[in-house]
Amino acid sequence: MTDQHVLVAYGSTNQGTAGIAVEIAATLREEGLTAEARPAGEVGDLSAYDAVVLGGGLYAGRWQRDARRLVRRLGPQLRDRPVWFFSSGPLDATAAEREIPPTRAVRRAMSRVAARGHTTFGGRLDPHPKGRLARSMAKRGMAHDWRDFDQIRAWAHTVAADLRKK
Ligand SMILES: Cc1cc2nc3c(=O)[nH]c(=O)nc-3n(C[C@H](O)[C@H](O)[C@H](O)COP(=O)(O)O)c2cc1C
Repeated sequence: MTDQHVLVAYGSTNQGTAGIAVEIAATLREEGLTAEARPAGEVGDLSAYDAVVLGGGLYAGRWQRDARRLVRRLGPQLRDRPVWFFSSGPLDATAAEREIPPTRAVRRAMSRVAARGHTTFGGRLDPHPKGRLARSMAKRGMAHDWRDFDQIRAWAHTVAADLRKK
């Protein structure tokens, strides 16, 4: 089945996770799927989609609020479709070096919707981010982009391959 419509929804405060979602959607389109990236807060219904990739920026071990809320709001619809999760967080090279398991909170959300898989990508701290704590981290020299777009595209290809097996 190649004409599947995939939603790539994301919860992102400083747009780092948004950039990952856009790249995943573009890779899925290269694979011949129909795919679009949308902010999780703007997704009201999943009936138009055959599958969902949902990602959240990590804040203190939890997904950014809009991603968490999407799981709560649309849990039953998510459970009815193939769903993959990704997290974006580590502000160092660890996510590119090894597979980082989902946090406890994300694991719980995965079991609620029977998510098929999860991966963690490096994060990005904007030099002028939203949030007091984020700004103080940036002032301390932590602003950097740790996202690895080759890793992101490689993971999206595995999702496409899995969807084709469906
Ligand atoms: C206040 C704060 C808390 C964070 N907590 C975590 C965390 O618990 N785990 C992690 O891997 N990254 C953590 N990060 C890094 C963010 O997840 C990273 O900056 C991510 O790219 C943010 O996504 P966004 O730009 O889409 O909002 C934190 C960043 C900030 C500013």
